[in-house]
Amino acid sequence: MYSLRTVLRQVSPKVPVTRRFFQSSTAAKSDALFIHRDTPDNNANVKFEFNTDNKKRIEEILKKYPPQYKKGAIMPLLDLGQRQHGYTSLGVMNEVARLLEVPPMRVYEVATFYTMYNRNPVGKYFLQLCTTTPCQLGGCGSTKILETLTKELGVQPGETTKDGLFTLVEVECAGACSNAPVMAINDDYYEDLTPETTKKLIDNLKSGKPVKAGPQSGRHTCEFAPGVYTSLNSEPYGPGFKVREDL
Ligand code: FES
Repeated sequence: MYSLRTVLRQVSPKVPVTRRFFQSSTAAKSDALFIHRDTPDNNANVKFEFNTDNKKRIEEILKKYPPQYKKGAIMPLLDLGQRQHGYTSLGVMNEVARLLEVPPMRVYEVATFYTMYNRNPVGKYFLQLCTTTPCQLGGCGSTKILETLTKELGVQPGETTKDGLFTLVEVECAGACSNAPVMAINDDYYEDLTPETTKKLIDNLKSGKPVKAGPQSGRHTCEFAPGVYTSLNSEPYGPGFKVREDL
């Protein structure tokens, strides 16, 4: 018994023998680089200060924590900083560390662990398209939505449009699988997407027209969609169903 490699070598010693892998697709890499790189706008010398409104909010937030545990407020303060500054710069992180009297590293650890913190500038509309399995399989599938977005915006996941309006990223399950495919635009979810409704959303955002968050299919929330879903489409059974009579 000869191995395939031996047989190939005998047939033609010049035939390159390559290794075969079980997985032939390329490894998926993250959309973002999670290493800080100094830029003119984002380095330790560029200071950040919370505005007056946010300083008041911070006072209220800190009242929720015993003084010795105020480091528990790292996440809400980072969120405030990101909303004010547009992204979580080094200056934002350092200011949060200063206010909460913790070593800056404690804040960096949080900001680099949670993907909700954008440590680089993003567009006015931050599009987070869910491409996890239920969204890939639900409705028309997130692959078609991604194709529509890349075509309409002219960017790939992880990139921002030249006009600074849109940043597109792929994310893991957004927790709204029954309305798949789902995309978050800033703080709101847009659900039951199709290529047509996705294009319409993008067109409206580009032209400054209002868009309606939630399901784009006419569903109110995540109630049964006739003709689409094959479960939860019968009358709910009453109390006592399949329960022993002596109980
Ligand atoms: S898989 Fe997309 S929301 Fe859950």
